[in-house]
Amino acid sequence: MNILAIETSCDETSVSVVLDGVEVKSVVISSQIKIHTKFFGVVPELASRAHIENINPVIYQALNDAGIKFVNFSKKIDAVAFTVGPGLAGALLIGAIAAKSLAGIYSKPLIPVNHLEGHLYSSFIENKSVKPPFLGLIISGGHTELIVVKDFGKYKVLGGTRDDAAGEAFDKAAKMLGLSYPGGPVIDEKAENGNPSAIKFTRPYLKGSWDFSFSGIKTALLNYLKENPVENEKHLNDICASFRQAIAETLCFKSFEAVREFNLKQIILGGGVSANLLIRKMFLETGRKNKIKIFIPSLIYCTDNAAMIGCAAYLKQKKCGFKYSNTQLKPNPSLLLENW
Ligand code: KG4
Ligand code: ZN
Repeated sequence: MNILAIETSCDETSVSVVLDGVEVKSVVISSQIKIHTKFFGVVPELASRAHIENINPVIYQALNDAGIKFVNFSKKIDAVAFTVGPGLAGALLIGAIAAKSLAGIYSKPLIPVNHLEGHLYSSFIENKSVKPPFLGLIISGGHTELIVVKDFGKYKVLGGTRDDAAGEAFDKAAKMLGLSYPGGPVIDEKAENGNPSAIKFTRPYLKGSWDFSFSGIKTALLNYLKENPVENEKHLNDICASFRQAIAETLCFKSFEAVREFNLKQIILGGGVSANLLIRKMFLETGRKNKIKIFIPSLIYCTDNAAMIGCAAYLKQKKCGFKYSNTQLKPNPSLLLENW
């Protein structure tokens, strides 16, 4: 089954053609980073406008890359999937309208996909044999979610972010340090050359809860910078390394506590922050020591992309069939994870 998947929940316009959930025939990602960089964050109105401009060229490009001529859409594409939420309202609408229009014109079934499920199942694209149960850790710009995935579409959400999501903490820290947006990749790069023990930021383990809270580390950084303004490149690298270490240790500690508590043998990471070099290394090493299998997507599938939406859509329709009517589907900016 060839699914054309559309992702527009935030600042990436992405379209992908995915065969049977795992064979990515094409994935096109048009990033808006340049537009939002000067504001140190995504400006919703600008994001919507850029999606409107980009969506048609990106659809054409994705079909073209998959070797499908637009005139053959009906013959070659079996279903259309799109991100229905959570995300920015206007941004989600553009993707939904494009998906509904294509599905309507060519009489194709529509599959609405929760963005979080895209991140949760993105590892399946490169690991066809993975199966639930597993612990899912979604770490992105808007979410830090710890989830027991008992089966496809059967979730027990253990905890989430109480304040800043992991990616948001990186983005805000970068702003305080005078670095560019998005902050995660820049801090990651600088941290590679720094000393992670230079500054001792507290680890917010929140004992007795599976929730996360990163705003304390952010405030600790702010207070540290008031007393100790950045002196030179080495100092900056040390701050980045110490900050990254605190976030990585917190995520790793809580995730391995959860696999022990719920007797799971696999952890799957997803979301932009899972591109972080230290987080990847720490999870893989701790997994090896504790005999827990760790799956982390390649960098292209960590951040927002439509291939993960095509993958999740395939898994969803395999279990639930096509049951969504074109007229009923409304994007939901605050959509939660729901069981299928
Ligand atoms: O999943 P994503 O592309 O969009 C959302 O759904 O939010 O994640 C974007 C977030 C940003 O906050 C960005 O700073 C962070 O992922 N990020 C990273 C890295 N690459 C991207 N954070 C830490 N280290 C990285 N290497
Ligand atoms: Zn995302």
